[in-house]
Amino acid sequence: MTTVPTVTLNNGVSIPQLGFGVFQVPADETQRAVETALQAGYRHIDTAAAYRNEAGVGAAIAAAGLPREELFITTKLRNGEQATAAEAFEASRQALGLEVIDLYLIHWPVPSQDKYIDAWKALEKIYADGGARAIGVSNFLPEHLERLLAATDVLPTVNQIEVHPTFQQRELAAATRDAGIAVEAYSPLGQGADLTDPAVLAIAQAHDATPAQVVLAWHLAAGTIVIPKSVDPQRIAQNLAAVDVRLTDAEIESLNGLEAGARTGADPATAAFTQM
Ligand SMILES: NC(=O)c1ccc[n+]([C@@H]2O[C@H](COP(=O)([O-])OP(=O)(O)OC[C@H]3O[C@@H](n4cnc5c(N)ncnc54)[C@H](OP(=O)(O)O)[C@@H]3O)[C@@H](O)[C@H]2O)c1
Repeated sequence: MTTVPTVTLNNGVSIPQLGFGVFQVPADETQRAVETALQAGYRHIDTAAAYRNEAGVGAAIAAAGLPREELFITTKLRNGEQATAAEAFEASRQALGLEVIDLYLIHWPVPSQDKYIDAWKALEKIYADGGARAIGVSNFLPEHLERLLAATDVLPTVNQIEVHPTFQQRELAAATRDAGIAVEAYSPLGQGADLTDPAVLAIAQAHDATPAQVVLAWHLAAGTIVIPKSVDPQRIAQNLAAVDVRLTDAEIESLNGLEAGARTGADPATAAFTQM
């Protein structure tokens, strides 16, 4: 079985550095995809209330029958529920069939609705009560982190942000790490778009690896937590095996050079999916 390295978060909790994301996995396919991932050896699953597939993740966890302490399950607070985070958390717990969530994140700051400070205070209470082993944020820009840190008590453990070779967000990642917060890369493959870059293909050929393994190995070498998504059983297994790919410094430099400002998701400064 593949051994996935862990990252120790700022509250001492360990998170497997490579996990399995389920954004855009249809609700009725989620149980199968997550069961496939657990069989392949993933122990870290990343979902969100907004993905509408927490129940499928929960069904896969129940069917797998693995010891609970071997699993690391992340879910996220829906933007439209920032004023009612305690209730939203209960709904996620129920859908997942879990007493304790390993990591609970504020999904987006949504500055236009100006509720993330109150939401964070609710997450602090969830954490203090033992409902979540760790709490964190997602899509927070430096100004949102600064405000949160000044106004609240518990330091977020992670900031889950879009990072991949053609959209590296180096300043945001550095500001996150400087604050003692771990960087977790979402859309780590650029939603597949970074996998056809000639530099990625050349490195893949040199290692007899897949392009996705090369990109994931680049993230892992940077110490970033990474959560690729796939519904394809072969890709699910191949992506996990990226933990065994070691890139040279020159290869890492070559991938560092692919920055192209190619954001695939929304800009957190303006994103306001309050229906999510
Ligand atoms: N916090 C946030 O706001 C946020 C936003 C976006 C994503 N996320 C999280 O991050 C996770 C990953 O991001 P993502 O799903 O946007 O994008 P991603 O993981 O970068 O890419 C997924 C895409 O790449 C394809 N793919 C996966 N492995 C492949 C391989 N080995 N070879 C070729 N193609 C491959 C997948 O297709 P197939 O499925 O057909 O294999 C899918 O189209 C999400 O599932 C979610 O958990 C969080």
